[in-house]
Amino acid sequence: MASPKHFLTLLDFSPAELSALLLRAIDMKRAHRANEDQRAFGGKVLGMIFEKSSTRTRVSFEAGMVQLGGHAMFLSPNDTQLGRGEPVEDSARVISSMVDIVMIRTFGHDIIKRFAANSSVPVINALTDDYHPCQLLADMQTWLEQRGPMAGKRVAWIGDGNNMCHSYINAARQFDFQLVISCPKGFEPKAELLAENRDRVHIERDPMVAAAGTDLVVTDVWASMGQEEEQRERMQHFANYQVNEALMARANSDALYMHCLPAHRGEEISHELMDADDTVIWEEAENRLHAQKALIEALLHASS
Ligand code: CP
Ligand code: NVA
Repeated sequence: MASPKHFLTLLDFSPAELSALLLRAIDMKRAHRANEDQRAFGGKVLGMIFEKSSTRTRVSFEAGMVQLGGHAMFLSPNDTQLGRGEPVEDSARVISSMVDIVMIRTFGHDIIKRFAANSSVPVINALTDDYHPCQLLADMQTWLEQRGPMAGKRVAWIGDGNNMCHSYINAARQFDFQLVISCPKGFEPKAELLAENRDRVHIERDPMVAAAGTDLVVTDVWASMGQEEEQRERMQHFANYQVNEALMARANSDALYMHCLPAHRGEEISHELMDADDTVIWEEAENRLHAQKALIEALLHASS
């Protein structure tokens, strides 16, 4: 059997496939709001493996699969044999023999790679320590809806060089934009990712300089899941890296700001920006639903 198509990073889809997927997501959003029947995948089952907490990812995948006519099954290490040491490879063989598509949120990116290598059905990365590509689909959909194509734009990433930052680097390549990353020393994204994308991505330590002339400003929490014990220390390193009105005043006058959520108001983003009437952050969160429905459809079609 040919190996199934997976979505472990944005690089698993070509730029053309990503553009088509976003247009499909926008149409599925319209159809959903118009109450159209989207149940094209009756009897299909999505296995959802969560080794970390989630609100948006869980709700969007589960609701999305039901809206597509299928069923979603929540699996946590607390009550599966994964939590008792059954090898990822064995779990992948067994789970994928019973469901049609799998979504995984876990720690090491190698875990999802090992699962995918042993899975007979498509595997979706729903966040690892290294990447969060589903969030980028929602962010890029939001940009497309609000402002049109992303090509040629300037984006500032303000904060930690984390999984979201890594996915923004991949997005800069796939959606053809310039990315400036502003992070404190010692919190840079992976050096090899930076090296591979030197033509599109650079580091600027001063966030006010980084934001100047940008079209989109993006941030995320200073301590990600799994780094809770570093929270206090990180707050000191990141104190100057808040996205707020003063920083947005440096960006272009029609610039947007995004945050994958959950947010820490008063840390990486100000109360004023989070609670602004015209923020697109809530639309960005909702778009997880629509973008992932388009993703599930694309992966199931590619594997049928
Ligand atoms: N943005 C995001 O992935 O949110 P959750 O952690 O709530 O799923
Ligand atoms: N960087 C964050 C993203 C949460 C959606 C984390 O990994 O916790």
